[in-house]
Amino acid sequence: MKTNRLSAAITKALNAQMTNEAHNAQIYLSYASWASAEGYDGIANFLFRHENEERNHMMKILEYILKRGAKVEVTAIPHPGPDPTGVYDCFEKVFKSEVENTANIYRLVEMSMAEKDWATWNFMQWFVKEQTEEETLAIDLLDRIKIAGGAKATDSALYAFNRDLETKPDDAVLAQDVTVDKP
Ligand code: FEO
Repeated sequence: MKTNRLSAAITKALNAQMTNEAHNAQIYLSYASWASAEGYDGIANFLFRHENEERNHMMKILEYILKRGAKVEVTAIPHPGPDPTGVYDCFEKVFKSEVENTANIYRLVEMSMAEKDWATWNFMQWFVKEQTEEETLAIDLLDRIKIAGGAKATDSALYAFNRDLETKPDDAVLAQDVTVDKP
C-alpha cells in the first residue's frame, strides 16, 4: 500500500523550501562573518543565532517530508551574495530576504489549500507565524538604525546598536500577543 501522503507538487515545493531556508541560513552566516570581521561582535552574535534558526527551519521541513512518507531531495545551496556595504545595508538585506521567504511560505500555504492538504496547511501555519516574527524583528532593527541616521549613522550610534544586539531577544512581540496594559 502506498504510504506517501504528499502530492508530487507539494513534495517538490517543500523540498525547494528546504533549500530556501538553507539559503537564508547561508545569508545570515555570511553577514555574521562580515559583521565580526568589521568589529561588530554583538551584531555578529545576533546574526549567528539567526543562522541557527534558519537551519532549524530547514530541519523542520525535512522531518515533515519524511514523516509524511515522501522523498527528501538535498540540493546545492545558492551563493549568499556580496557582503553588506554597512550596518544599514546589512539589515535592509536581512529584511528583504525575510520578505522573499514569506512570499515562498505563502505560496506553499496557497498550494496546500488548493489541494485540500490540510496537514501541510496546518504545518505551514507555524512558518506563517515565524515569518511574522522575523519581519517584525527586522523592521524594528531597521527603524532603530534609521533613527540613528541610517547609512550615515555615527560610530557611537553603531557602537550602542552593536552592544544592544548582544543581548536582544531572538523573538519579536507580535500584535496578537499585545494587551492594553502591555502594549
Ligand atoms: Fe526561515 Fe526567516 O526564514
